[in-house]
Amino acid sequence: MTSTQGLKLVDRDESGVDTAFRADVLAGLSQEPKAVPARWLYDDAGSQLFEDITQLPEYYPTRAETEILTDRAGEFADMIRAGSAVVEFGSGSSVKTPLLLSAIDPAAYVPLDIAGDFLRAAAADLAAKFPGLPVYPVEADFMRRVELPEEIADMPKLGFFPGSTIGNMVARTAVDLLRNMRETLGEGAQLLIGMDLIKDREVLVAAYDDAQGVTAEFNYNLVRRINRELEGDIPLDALTHEARWNDEYARVEMHLVTSRDISFSVAGKSFALTAGESIHTENSHKFNRRTSNMLLLAGGWDPQTRWLDSEGRFSLLLAEARPNRSAP
Ligand code: AVI
Repeated sequence: MTSTQGLKLVDRDESGVDTAFRADVLAGLSQEPKAVPARWLYDDAGSQLFEDITQLPEYYPTRAETEILTDRAGEFADMIRAGSAVVEFGSGSSVKTPLLLSAIDPAAYVPLDIAGDFLRAAAADLAAKFPGLPVYPVEADFMRRVELPEEIADMPKLGFFPGSTIGNMVARTAVDLLRNMRETLGEGAQLLIGMDLIKDREVLVAAYDDAQGVTAEFNYNLVRRINRELEGDIPLDALTHEARWNDEYARVEMHLVTSRDISFSVAGKSFALTAGESIHTENSHKFNRRTSNMLLLAGGWDPQTRWLDSEGRFSLLLAEARPNRSAP
C-alpha cells in the first residue's frame, strides 16, 4: 500500500508500517556498532521535544543564531543581493525566517519541505506576517536537486539553511547536499548557512544532556517509536541516554547505552546487546573557521562572510556559487 505525505510517497506495507523506517532500523541494529539514522527521531512527539530542546538553558545554538540574525540585520542587507528570492531548505516554523526576511526585504520566499502539512502551515504563517511578499511553497526532498517555481527564475537566489542541521550529516552526505543546493539554486546564488562551533567539551555535552532530561526523552522517544510502530520490545528501562564528544570527528554523539545484557525483537527479528554496548542515534558535528570553509568549498560554495554571536559559540556563513574556472 502506498500513501502520500505531501508529494513524497511514504511506502507502507499492508499493516501500515513505514517500510523505509523498518529497513533503516533493521539494517542499523544488524551492524556493529549499532546505529539508527537520526531522521527517525522526528515523529510528532520527537519534533515537539526538539522544539522544547531549543528553549533549554543548556541548548545555546538557537539563541546564538537568533542573536546573529537580529544584531547583524544591517550587514545582511549589505551583503545579500537586492531583490533576492529566499529559498529555505526546510520550512521556517521558527522565529529565524521572519528575522532574515525583515533584514533583507526579499522579492519572494520559497520554503522547501518534505512534510506537506508543516510546509503549508509555515507558508501561510509567513504570508500573513509579510503581506505583499510572494510565497511559493514547494513540497520536495531537498536532499535532491529541486525544480524551483518559474516565478523566481529571473531573481537572484539566496539559499537559507539555519540551525546547524548540516552538522547532523556525515561529511559525505553534507557535501552531497551542498552540491545539490548549488544545482538547485544555480551559479551566482548565495547561501546563508548556520554551523555550530567547536567549544569546551563540558558546554557541548551539557547542550545534549540537559539537567531537565528533555534531550534524554527525545532519544528515548525513538525507542518508543520503534516499539510502537515496528512491534518491538526493546526494554527502555535498561537504556540510558548519553551524549559523548568524539574529538576525532569533532562531533557530539547521542547514544542509548544498555546497563545490562539485553535481547529483544523488532519486526520479528532478534537482536542482543551486552552491558555497556550502545545504539548510536545522532551525530552533531561542530566546526571551526577552516573546517566550515572546507566543507562549503567541497560542496561548491565559496565562503564570503562569517558572523559569530557575541559569545563566539555559533557561526552563520554567507557563501557564493562562483562559476567554475580552471585552477592551478
Ligand atoms: C536539529 N539539530 C541541528 C539538532 C542538533 O543540535 O544537532 C538536533 C538535536 N539533537 C539533540 N539536541 C538537538
